[in-house]
Amino acid sequence: MIDWDAKEYGRLNRPHLNWGQSVLSQIDFRGNELVLDAGCGVGNLTINIASQIPNGHIIAVDKSKSMITEASSKTSHLRTQISLLRADLLYIPIQECVDTIFSNATFHWIHDHFQLFSEMYRILRPGGTISAQFGGGPNIKSLINRFCQLSKEPEFEYLAEQSFPWNFRSIEETKSCLIRAGFIEIQISLVEAPVVFPDVSSYSHFVEKIILFPVLGNVPDDETQRAFLTRLGTESLNGEKPLTVDYWRINILARKPK
Ligand SMILES: C[S@@+](CC[C@H](N)C(=O)[O-])C[C@H]1O[C@@H](n2cnc3c(N)ncnc32)[C@H](O)[C@@H]1O
Repeated sequence: MIDWDAKEYGRLNRPHLNWGQSVLSQIDFRGNELVLDAGCGVGNLTINIASQIPNGHIIAVDKSKSMITEASSKTSHLRTQISLLRADLLYIPIQECVDTIFSNATFHWIHDHFQLFSEMYRILRPGGTISAQFGGGPNIKSLINRFCQLSKEPEFEYLAEQSFPWNFRSIEETKSCLIRAGFIEIQISLVEAPVVFPDVSSYSHFVEKIILFPVLGNVPDDETQRAFLTRLGTESLNGEKPLTVDYWRINILARKPK
């Protein structure tokens, strides 16, 4: 299973947090609901939700042991408001009771979106909503193309023929999965969100720790890895901008019928 260096993850300045906050700002919280944070990571956005529902409760779910451990220490002052649960989002051990599901930067790590949305549907109370953002469409396509091109060179042969762990679906595929799972009033959009880094070192650190950590394990030494990440960030295949990560995000908002 892919696991994260949760301490390093929590330290890094991630654009995903701003994107997640803007998804949260569009949810009309009453202040007393039961919210599920699906793939809570180290809990930054869980804390933000807690501040918006002073009389409510959050179940923050994540599969990663290190993320849940880190989230537990970050949210220790909010014990009455937040329950942490280590579980796979495909099989959540709770009944139909949740008012709102929120999720940020998580669903593209899950391979079966029909099973995922069916499970989200099952745990929502009738009339409950899901609001989520995740990678989709051509997310990081330029980065992956450059990765594949570079890994053909003898120096980087350890990285050849990688299979990448993400599931980036189109908005049509996502909408069809949501409909099949039973959701109604579906709003869905795909937005381009490129992130430009000021220098090679910040680009390389971010790309290593946040994006490519599951696929760099075969690189034999730090020097080869540094050379690989530098060329990944500075060389262009089809005129892409250097030191840029070509993020694309899918936003969804949908409801379970009453
Ligand atoms: C990029 S992090 C996002 C964390 C947080 N939502 C944020 O925006 O900072 C993705 C999280 O999804 C979790 N995750 C991936 N697949 C999962 C699954 N099948 N079930 C539960 N959590 C999962 C990972 O462990 C990780 O913490």
